[in-house]
Amino acid sequence: MEKDREKDRDNNPEPEIGRRFQNETKYSPGKMGGYTLDWDSIPKPYKHYESPLAIIQLPEPDTKSGPDLWKLLQKRRSRREYGVHRPIRLAALSSLLWATQGITARYGDAFFRTAPSAGGLFPVETYLSIRAVEGLEQGLYHFRPLTFDLEFLQKGDFSRELTEAALQQDLILDAQVTFIWSAIIARSRWKYRQRTYRYIYLDAGHIAQNLYLAAEALGLGACAIGAFYDDEANKILSLDGVEETVIYMAAVGRPAEVK
Ligand SMILES: Cc1cc2nc3c(=O)[nH]c(=O)nc-3n(C[C@H](O)[C@H](O)[C@H](O)COP(=O)(O)O)c2cc1C
Repeated sequence: MEKDREKDRDNNPEPEIGRRFQNETKYSPGKMGGYTLDWDSIPKPYKHYESPLAIIQLPEPDTKSGPDLWKLLQKRRSRREYGVHRPIRLAALSSLLWATQGITARYGDAFFRTAPSAGGLFPVETYLSIRAVEGLEQGLYHFRPLTFDLEFLQKGDFSRELTEAALQQDLILDAQVTFIWSAIIARSRWKYRQRTYRYIYLDAGHIAQNLYLAAEALGLGACAIGAFYDDEANKILSLDGVEETVIYMAAVGRPAEVK
């Protein structure tokens, strides 16, 4: 057994890094850091761009109707076959965004969302690569939860580039929209230091499950994408990959027409 482990370590150094990471970011009694939070240096909780091409106000999400939660949980699947021709409605996109990152409550200065986040710090940002959504030009967009709008960042169909970044997974070519989630590390590092790198992925998981369920409720199909070349994905969004880095994606489309 130990021999196998050694062999594994020799052939593939990654598991060793994983084990070290898990170990060195453990919480244990007597090893909790003991630092005090510096409230004067708390990072900004929201990102916005200085000069986006446009700002698009999103329509009210329809949160009043839909199948019941238990049915959705039963039905949810990763769906990778999309009907490519019909765009999805802007109202549906609005509902998807609300389900993933919508603001649902305010306590003092703090805003809370549909998905939980470690420490209420919300390090995850949402970008969209739009291929076919009614009323939106093709391009890259950044979602702002507080004002519930989209910043239009770049024109064009980025589905080919994204597919290549995602190890040639061509479901992105047909998807009407691809969600790209990044994390702004400083937001969480301010409190959690190295443990941040556990929490950003947990946050993203909650967000993605909300997307899956909302897509299912709207009669759309979603599929999470964890396999991508990090540098290529970051390049598409002009992220530095250190302070802000892509951590997860999901394709969303109309389910393929039954022949
Ligand atoms: C963290 C994570 C990463 C994933 N990455 C991919 C991916 O890169 N490509 C893909 O086609 N599916 C991906 N999936 C979807 C899984 O393959 C899928 O959830 C799994 O096979 C179970 O099927 P179900 O979602 O239909 O229940 C990912 C799922 C998760 C949770």
